Amino acid sequence: MMVPVQWKNVSASAHFSLCAGQATRYNHVSRETEGTMPRIVAVANQKGGVGKTTTALNVSAALALAGKRCLLVDLDPQGNATTGLGMEKKRREGAYLLLADHSKAAAAIVPSGVRNLDVVPSSPNLGEAEAQLASQPNRHLRLKLAKPQFEKAYDFVFIDCPPGTGFFPANALACAESVLIPIQCEYFAMEGLTQILSNISAMRNGSNPQLEVESILLTMYEPSAFAKEVATEVRSHFSDLVCETVIPRDITLAEAPSHGQSIIDYAPRSRGARAYLELAKEILNDHQG
Ligand SMILES: Nc1ncnc2c1ncn2[C@@H]1O[C@H](COP(=O)(O)OP(=O)(O)OP(=O)(O)O)[C@@H](O)[C@H]1O
Ligand SMILES: [Mg+2]
Repeated sequence: MMVPVQWKNVSASAHFSLCAGQATRYNHVSRETEGTMPRIVAVANQKGGVGKTTTALNVSAALALAGKRCLLVDLDPQGNATTGLGMEKKRREGAYLLLADHSKAAAAIVPSGVRNLDVVPSSPNLGEAEAQLASQPNRHLRLKLAKPQFEKAYDFVFIDCPPGTGFFPANALACAESVLIPIQCEYFAMEGLTQILSNISAMRNGSNPQLEVESILLTMYEPSAFAKEVATEVRSHFSDLVCETVIPRDITLAEAPSHGQSIIDYAPRSRGARAYLELAKEILNDHQG
């Protein structure tokens, strides 16, 4: 059960002064209010390069700025969310540890340096976890086994999935309460959407009957006639499931990871930052009361 949350209305000036404090490095998210349950959201789409990592990282940072205790789990061997926050992938630690030994899950969590945001970084040997666990029954339930170890300390947990439908996305979908599906407004978007929805439905009929679609998010949007057409089609098929917020194509969103920063810290005035703050607000509104 989500505790009702209040969006801390971040006025432009308050927001920018908060961002100005970004040089401060923060320790682990406070566990003083431990006991509430988080919203665990898998950010998934089997299609590659649609904005999963950009979304998982920046929406976590935006919610953290709004005062929500967030955990970002980088379940992708590529480790883009980890390096995008200026962190190192940890061999035999981080996501590898989370999957390999759920009793040590708490040790897999590290502070990101951003206030209210902790991370389970990816691991250089994360791919090995898949091979090592290949013969185990219920290998797609490894992350779910670790859940009790981390769930009480956060308001939101975002799991960044790699593309495809393999071991890692299956673990994320089995553990999550909902799936946030980023899609690009392009010709194959609907096809990708149909596939992920069918994976969600398979998971609902199997290991995770409660799994919901959190929302569908239009990303890298450019106001061309074609993109508008795709957006209209997606909205006409999925209506309320589609976020009102649309993430524009904005070069600063692509630049921020090379500086090891979220867009909120790297370019707080950019269109990309504003869009992810709006998305965070929309998510909070959806889970109020
Ligand atoms: N709104 C945006 N505007 C401009 N560039 C973007 C935007 N969103 C993402 N990008 C860039 O597009 C590329 C793909 O984005 P991202 O890595 O988030 O996708 P992904 O779905 O996580 O990819 P993968 O499937 O490989 O994990 C990255 O270089 C990223 O910086
Ligand atoms: Mg990614």
